[in-house]
Amino acid sequence: MRIQVIIPAAGLGERFQSDIPKPLTLLKDKPVLIHSLEIFDKSDLIQGMIVAAPEEHQKDFEAAVAKYSFKKPIKVVVGGKNRQESVANALNTLDPNTDYVVVHDAARPLLTVKVLEAAIHACVAYKAVIVAVPVKPTIKRIDPMNSEVNATLDRSVLWEAQTPQIFAYELLTQAHKQGIGLEATDDAFLAERFGAKVKVVQGEYRNIKITTPEDLKIAEALLE
Ligand code: CTP
Ligand code: MG
Repeated sequence: MRIQVIIPAAGLGERFQSDIPKPLTLLKDKPVLIHSLEIFDKSDLIQGMIVAAPEEHQKDFEAAVAKYSFKKPIKVVVGGKNRQESVANALNTLDPNTDYVVVHDAARPLLTVKVLEAAIHACVAYKAVIVAVPVKPTIKRIDPMNSEVNATLDRSVLWEAQTPQIFAYELLTQAHKQGIGLEATDDAFLAERFGAKVKVVQGEYRNIKITTPEDLKIAEALLE
């Protein structure tokens, strides 16, 4: 199987509020992005990685990647104005001779090879697989007009989607083509709209997304 990884890393990090791009921020001894790249570099199931970076920081991302010695080829491409466009741009540069595409947020540096490979193995039976965890809190649906509670959702059927998300190459490219102009916050949404059955593989709570500055502190603690 030929499996390539796309890492959307072209966000503005508005909620993170830092001068340097969130994926280049240091988490312990190395940038957030490098943590993820090392996981993919370690897994024998992966052939290469493509990073979608902000246009004005291409050189910074290339320099950051070049500082580490990866076994596998890593390409840095220009991202888009939202996450979906960043993934689409990377997809456009991908070798069509690819069987599966793993999409993984740069902002999730605590993925493990074990979870990655469990999700990849599920791809043999499903063309679309996401890593997710059961939600812990009680979730209310509210009326946005007056902030009144509409309903308490049945927690036993609610899972929080994470990345990686893995798709057959053809499915992902078609789903993206059909979804042009939407602003999907994950790729599974596009696959669902396209009619694909999406399989959930249980991941780990430690695979947090670094969104606000306190998340970096939590990630540091989890790395201890
Ligand atoms: N992303 C991207 N291109 C964009 C927007 C987001 O590649 N135009 C990436 C981010 O770099 C991140 C992932 O998508 O790795 C998830 O997005 P998020 O956590 O929301 O990061 P940001 O968009 O950078 O943060 P914010 O929404 O606070 O600005
Ligand atoms: Mg964002």
